[in-house]
Amino acid sequence: MERIVEIDKVTFENEYETSLRPTTWEDYIGQDKIKKNLQVFIKASKKRDEALDHVLFFGPPGLGKTTLAYIIANEMKANIKMTAAPMIEKSGDLAAILTNLEEGDILFIDEIHRLSPAIEEILYPAMEDFRLDIIIGSGPAAQTIKIDLPRFTLIGATTRAGMISSPLRDRFGMHFRLQFYNNDDLSKIIKKAGKKLEKVCQEDASLEMAKRSRGTPRIALRLLKRIRDYADVENETNISLKRAKYGLDELGVNDLGFDELDLRFLEILISAKGRPMGLSTIAAALSEDEGTVEDVIEPYLLAKGYIERTARGRVATPKSYEVFRLTHPNTDMGLFNHE
Ligand SMILES: Nc1ncnc2c1ncn2[C@@H]1O[C@H](COP(=O)(O)OP(=O)(O)OP(=O)(O)O)[C@@H](O)[C@H]1O
Ligand SMILES: [Mg+2]
Repeated sequence: MERIVEIDKVTFENEYETSLRPTTWEDYIGQDKIKKNLQVFIKASKKRDEALDHVLFFGPPGLGKTTLAYIIANEMKANIKMTAAPMIEKSGDLAAILTNLEEGDILFIDEIHRLSPAIEEILYPAMEDFRLDIIIGSGPAAQTIKIDLPRFTLIGATTRAGMISSPLRDRFGMHFRLQFYNNDDLSKIIKKAGKKLEKVCQEDASLEMAKRSRGTPRIALRLLKRIRDYADVENETNISLKRAKYGLDELGVNDLGFDELDLRFLEILISAKGRPMGLSTIAAALSEDEGTVEDVIEPYLLAKGYIERTARGRVATPKSYEVFRLTHPNTDMGLFNHE
């Protein structure tokens, strides 16, 4: 079957990401629980010759949500149409997308938490009953026309689990939360990508890059690309630990994988001397919007135990103070005791 991949609407993908993106389960490293579950559900729906139930992916940027959507399409041998919620402004936009789908197609909607309530309303019957309700005219003369849709699979992705409305969330048959990757998995991803780029990464070199990738494949691949440049300039066919370390230092990535924003974030929290700080205050101090702070900076620092969220705001844990070789002011006050 011919695959039609519409990527023109998704403008934020760059070329290397597309070229290094795995298309099979074999190349998709980590996220084992998600992988195992999806493999079962895909097998079952293929056996019944049915479209796969709708799937929702949550998780910070760069962990592989879009990649999973492509793999599902590949496994289902289905066409995939890609779009993102901000592109769907009018109900007519969504109606056009839905009526152009064919039986078994996959519709991928990125940033799905950004759909407007009016658009969501149209999506509900489409997801549940494969039906489009169009209202023609207005006032007492208004008429609803029902159009049958082919059975399709909606795959939604979002970095903001908390911002998706519950009626929409409930209409997805499967929910998966992507986790940050461990260093071994990131190292495997780097080595596989290195092979595709015709550069063999030595084991210790790929592990060093992995450690500094913030648990995120997209960052790992970005680092690999830059270090490959350093190796190319030196006419080296392999990437050695020495070259990796040199490159990482030149790129200013510290050995915890923190970037400049992470470090500034922690410094700001630490300057509060143990008092919780609100999201808006932190965002203002960083000159970043709250969304970036919540979606991009915080999840990793939370997952690794550098910060905690309390009812009154964010606090730096003793682990953060260690990064700057400082002692936490409230270590003995039980602030970090978990229930
Ligand atoms: N499990 C994995 N194994 C191998 N490579 C991966 C894996 N997950 C992601 N990648 C690589 O990392 C890059 C980023 O992944 P992807 O675009 O799927 O992230 P995303 O979760 O959709 O991010 P965003 O929220 O920004 O859209 C891809 O180019 C892909 O090659
Ligand atoms: Mg994506």
